[in-house]
Parts: sequence; C-alpha cells; structure tokens
Amino acid sequence: MQIEPSAAATAPALPDTPVVPALRLPARLGHVLSLDDFERAARRHLPAPVFAYVSGAVERNASLRANAASFEQYEFLPRMLVDMSRRTTATSLLGRRWSAPFGIAPMGISALSAYRGDLVLAQAARAENVPMIMSGSSLIRMEEVVQANPDAWFQAYLPGVESEMQALIARVRIAGFRTLVITVDSSIASNRENNIRAGFSTPLRPSLALAWQGLTHPRWTFGTFLRTIAQHGMPHFENNFARRGAPILSATVQRDFSDRGHLTWEHLRMVRRLWPGQLVVKGILDVRDARLAIGVGADGIIVSNHGGRQLDGTVPPLKVLPGIVAVCRGTPVMIDSGFRRGTDVLKALALGASFVFIGRPFNYAASVAGEAGVRKGIGLLRDEVSRNMAMLGVTELHELDASYLVPAGR
Ligand code: GLV
Repeated sequence: MQIEPSAAATAPALPDTPVVPALRLPARLGHVLSLDDFERAARRHLPAPVFAYVSGAVERNASLRANAASFEQYEFLPRMLVDMSRRTTATSLLGRRWSAPFGIAPMGISALSAYRGDLVLAQAARAENVPMIMSGSSLIRMEEVVQANPDAWFQAYLPGVESEMQALIARVRIAGFRTLVITVDSSIASNRENNIRAGFSTPLRPSLALAWQGLTHPRWTFGTFLRTIAQHGMPHFENNFARRGAPILSATVQRDFSDRGHLTWEHLRMVRRLWPGQLVVKGILDVRDARLAIGVGADGIIVSNHGGRQLDGTVPPLKVLPGIVAVCRGTPVMIDSGFRRGTDVLKALALGASFVFIGRPFNYAASVAGEAGVRKGIGLLRDEVSRNMAMLGVTELHELDASYLVPAGR
C-alpha cells in the first residue's frame, strides 16, 4: 500500500517566514485549493466591467493564451532519493531574503476591485515576506502603502513631460520607496476592446447598466465601493503623477493619459540619474533591450508581456527567458505573465529566472477575501513550490537549472 504524505508533512517549516498568525478565510471560500479558484470566485463577486478590466487582455487574447501554453513547452526531469527533508523555498533578490521565489506584480486600480486593494496586497506581502510592487495607476496614496509595507516597490509609468517625471520620482523617493520599477511596454494605450464591450472605462461613467451591475453584486457594492466612498471619499488616481489625477467615477472628467510616445532610452538614463535606489526595468522581451537596460544601469529587469495586455501576439516571456538570462550575467532577471502554479514558477527558475511575479490571482484573492485571501493565495503557491521541489529532488532553489527540464515533444 502506498502512503500518501499529508500536505502538512510535505511543507517544511520556513525559517525565513515571519511568524504572523494566519487569517481565517470566510467559510464560503472553503473550496479554494489553487490560485485559479480565486478567479472563479472573483468572476461571481465583481461587477462584469470590473472583472473584465482585471481578467482581460487585448484583441484576440493571443498573448494571454500563449503565456498560459508556454509552460507546457517544458517537462520536468526529477531526481530521486535526494534528502529534501530540510528544503526551503526562501530565496534572495536584490539584497534581501524572501520566503518564496515569487511576489505580487503591479496591478492598476486594485482598490476598485478590492476594498483598500493596494494596502491589502502590501500588508499580506509583508506578513508573508514576499515582495509586492505597487502600481502607479492606483487609487490609494503611495505614502500610505509604503508606510504599511516599507519593503514594497513602486512601479511607475513615466509621465511624458520631463518636469512631471522629475516630480514623480522625487515624490516616490520622499515617500520612502527603495526600489523603483519602470514599465517600458506601455508607451501607448493598448486595444482593450473587451473593456469597452463590458462597459469599463476610467473614469467609470455612471449609467443604468453600471447601476444594474451594482445591484446584482451587492457584496462588492456595499463591501468595497460604497464602503470606500463612505470611509475615504471618492477614489482618485493618486500616483500617476506627483499630483492627484482623475476620480474613478465621473460623468464628465477625462483622465490625464500622459503622452509617452516620444520616450526613449535617454529618458531611462535620466531616471537612473534621478533615482538613487534600486532600479528595475519591466517589460523587456528582446535580448538587445535587456543589454540596453543593463547599460543604462538597471539593477534588475522583468521579462514580461504585461500579462498579455499590450501587443497581442507577443512572444511569451518564458520563451525568451534563457536568451535574456545569458546576456544578463550578474543582473537579476525576473519574469511575469501567466504564472499560476508552483510548477510554472519552478520552470522559470530552472531556465535562469531569479524571481517570478504574479498579478491577477492576487487581485482576485484581495477582492473576495481581503488580506486573508491574499495570504491564503501566497501560502497555497508557496506550498506548491515546496511540494514540487521535494518531488524534483531539490532542497534549495539555486540548485535548479535547465538539467531539470526537457523540451516537450522531444
Ligand atoms: C495596467 O497596467 C493595466 O495593464 O491595465
């Protein structure tokens, strides 16, 4: 008879995880066993336009599908009878030790889908000792978020006007962030047809259809939207610039989408001169751009196609990862876009990634269950990484390399 080890027995104690008591998930979320389960719960919980914004991609969703499919291009080659009783998922990145090789990717407007979304993500990341990147397209002031989690990173879309760029970087520095991420794949707005079809816009426009969505999603309406307005006033875009931007709901206000079409590597050089902390460039897919980013003085890069939300039909980051790692000796190469499972994370690490970032599932977790949900999601994924390390015969993540993988179909 085979003895199936229990999940508790396969997940070792993590010495690098701070001991912060777990939070209880509401009983209605008892069925959540993986990150994907949060998506199903959020689809029911959120008004259709808000769910469409978070879940959606662009045009034919080709990049989105390719991201998900890319993990199947590799199969594991596990090693046997390795003593993995003392394995750890802890890993170092940019001078700090984290409890897991993954963190929370930046996501815009997360305080619309989740009550105090950015804060909830920041607090959960702090409690679980993983990095969290705050998006500049956010509705809670960055100063409040970095106070809740001094290790949070800030992700900016560079304003197109130099004086505004300088003012924003000064604000991020004074707020206390130590790591600045510049996303370089969004010089112009992508074609989010699905958002338009679902009635999503920024600001949201009051309409009968939107009111109906509110009425049919009362837990979100009362627990997130009206609660936010009652306790904190109408949310505004707080962090795209040094100054406050547009409100999230308005019949007339136009959002100030800075024209970034003229930005070049020269502007990144300027950011490097202005920013004394760690600088990470996000949205790299070509080896030549990786070299340019390092030449400018980036401390790390994130290989990313923006979760399939920019150019449709873009190569999945996993496919170009090994080539980029090969030219980035000494500079950490991180990756995001489509990661959902511990096996996905381990494949990227085996291909040379230093770290993985994951977005949408943590947004869904925050929407349906706040900080408890996000911590549950982090715990589930960390357990998957740990359990899969054991089955691969790996005790420390730095042992992983391409010898643990075989290209599928060979
Ligand atoms: C923001 O980064 C978005 O992709 O909507």
